Amino acid sequence: MAETIVTAAELVRQSARITALTGAGISAESGIPTFRDNNGLWRNFRAEDLATPQAFARDPKIVWEWYNWRRSLIAKAEPNPGHYALVTLEQAKPGFTLITQNVDGLHARAGSRDPLLLHGDIWTLRCTGCGDSKQDHTPDLKTLPPVCRCGAIRRPGVVWFGEGLPQDIWRRAEQAVRGADLLLVVGTSAQVYPAAGLIHLAQSSGAKVIEINAAETPVSGTVDFSLRGPSGRILPELIERDKGDSL
Ligand code: OAD
Repeated sequence: MAETIVTAAELVRQSARITALTGAGISAESGIPTFRDNNGLWRNFRAEDLATPQAFARDPKIVWEWYNWRRSLIAKAEPNPGHYALVTLEQAKPGFTLITQNVDGLHARAGSRDPLLLHGDIWTLRCTGCGDSKQDHTPDLKTLPPVCRCGAIRRPGVVWFGEGLPQDIWRRAEQAVRGADLLLVVGTSAQVYPAAGLIHLAQSSGAKVIEINAAETPVSGTVDFSLRGPSGRILPELIERDKGDSL
């Protein structure tokens, strides 16, 4: 592993255009449960049972209770060394782009400039009637589901299974990956599409891929380096190793 990380760090140093794709694992060390690890279940529901338009139509209150629970955990959380390492990388590499599936806002709080939010933002409340969108950082919403001034209920401003990704964000993400020399894939199970498709797009566009994950994933065997361990330890190590040289 020590040797592997040295070689992977050399690849980071040599790459001018780096894109990172992050998932729930990067925020795990901030105390936010992932979706598919053991601690990911909430009252025995899977994400796929709750994060859908059908689930919301059936029982908006329970879906909101789940998001309210996640909002209260996120509100208490702080970015961890993994988030900060990506800020360091962004500052060192002008061609850097950060793409995240996370809706927790921790990348921005760490100082990442313009993360591409593929799955939206948990602090945005969108009206299902008039479409009004507003930011609300109250960790524990008192009225569930929240109601808009127009009388209709609001939903979380996130992308659910079966819904399209925000087109402009997706276009920019594809563009960044197509133009990248190196894709860092951090803390994602690489199971949810279209986001996971960006890994295959990078490979078919000729980019190198370094995966950082606590466990093996379906792409581990196909990437150039698969670094196993917590991203809060591995990412700073990968990037710190370059500090002596110029990144
Ligand atoms: P998952 O919960 O599917 O996967 C989390 C990944 O993080 C797993 O592969 C873990 O092994 C890894 N992991 C856990 N702790 C880690 C750590 N400390 N360091 C590094 N890796 C760690 O989360 P995502 O891949 O982000 O979408 O899931 C994708 C989407 O599915 C989410 O954006 C969400 C979810 O349902 C929607 O809600 C639409």
